Amino acid sequence: MSLDMNFVRDQFPGLKNEWAFMDNAGGAQILKGCVDNITEYYYSNNVQLGGSYDVSQAALRSYAQGRENIATFFNASMPEEIVFGPSSTVLLQFLSKSMASQFSAGDEVIVTITDHESNIGPWVWLEEKGVIIKFWPMNKETYELELDALDKLMTDKTKLVAFAHVSNLLGTINNVKEITKFVHDRGALVCVDAVAYAPHRAVDVQDWDVDFYALSLYKTYGPHHAALYCRMDQLKELDGLYHYFYGKDKIPAKMEPGNANYELSYASGAIVDYLVALGEQAGETGSRRAKLETAFKDITEQENILSEKVLSYLRKRNDCTIIGITDGNSPRRVPTIAFTVKGKDPEQICLAMDKYKIAIRFGDFHARRLSDSLDLTKDNGTVRISLTHYNTVGEVEKLLSAFDDILSS
Ligand SMILES: Cc1ncc(COP(=O)(O)O)c(C=O)c1O
Repeated sequence: MSLDMNFVRDQFPGLKNEWAFMDNAGGAQILKGCVDNITEYYYSNNVQLGGSYDVSQAALRSYAQGRENIATFFNASMPEEIVFGPSSTVLLQFLSKSMASQFSAGDEVIVTITDHESNIGPWVWLEEKGVIIKFWPMNKETYELELDALDKLMTDKTKLVAFAHVSNLLGTINNVKEITKFVHDRGALVCVDAVAYAPHRAVDVQDWDVDFYALSLYKTYGPHHAALYCRMDQLKELDGLYHYFYGKDKIPAKMEPGNANYELSYASGAIVDYLVALGEQAGETGSRRAKLETAFKDITEQENILSEKVLSYLRKRNDCTIIGITDGNSPRRVPTIAFTVKGKDPEQICLAMDKYKIAIRFGDFHARRLSDSLDLTKDNGTVRISLTHYNTVGEVEKLLSAFDDILSS
């Protein structure tokens, strides 16, 4: 069964707007359920946690419920494996800091040229400790990260490989399970940036056996908040970032120094409630997790329709170069589509598009090293259309007709 688009769009009050939002990889619209949860938390439970009185106990339960829901989102084996924080950038910086004592001078960490800087910079920082940083290059003809190239970089000194599940510029889905096994077989850990993946496909950290996996909830239909999965055996090894008297065993609070954002953690649970509702509409009667997985199948179906509509348009034009996989129905792609237009400035294209009330974006999207390696940065990077399941065929048709006007002028 396909998505009920009226139901879907009704869950996002921000869509009742004259704009068509196609900058979703920058930030998605928030679910009404999340906003309602924030209000409910503030009006009913806004006290300090840890008190003996019942409102404080209720606040603690709400916070725990948020973590349980997000554990379902990741398919983590227990809620304590989920660490909340303000952004993926901060969580990955926390992670490298809390791992630093596990590295010795001469150890190696591999990062990719295709990542957002959030999953490169925190590891490059380890150079201060004498760690050697190597870059996993991309095949510039196919835009692919290849295991042969990784193999050449890995040695018995390699401790960690950090890579993105999906590049926020290329939109290509890397095979996390295969890469993780490859890295584990060679004795190293993985840290995966899933920010550009999580809004589009079901996450399954147990199936993939990843060690660390980060995503931003505000791009996944929730509030400005983020979550990092740390597999329990690895979480136990991390140094605590909280007060000295909270030891290494204070899990996961040792990775959440200070008071956490209880209201946003609780509110984020509504992302899972929404996916469960979509799964039920599709006829799934199993567990909440099974419903979520079914929902993502319908989400994929809708996104592929939109993606292929945009990509087939770009393929037909001889002045456009798609940066990434060109087939919108490819199972290796999410609808985050970057391209250049011969002789046209990406900034000017976006400024012209604003007049049509269609929100898109240009630039390097903080994948600066990728943009540099493709020699795009000096020309304002690329234009990026980042769609998601709540976009409609009608919106995409409006976009393509606007492109016809803008690119012919
Ligand atoms: C792939 C990717 N990783 C990381 C980030 C950073 O996320 P946050 O804003 O939560 O730090 C972004 C944001 O655009 C992203 O697209």
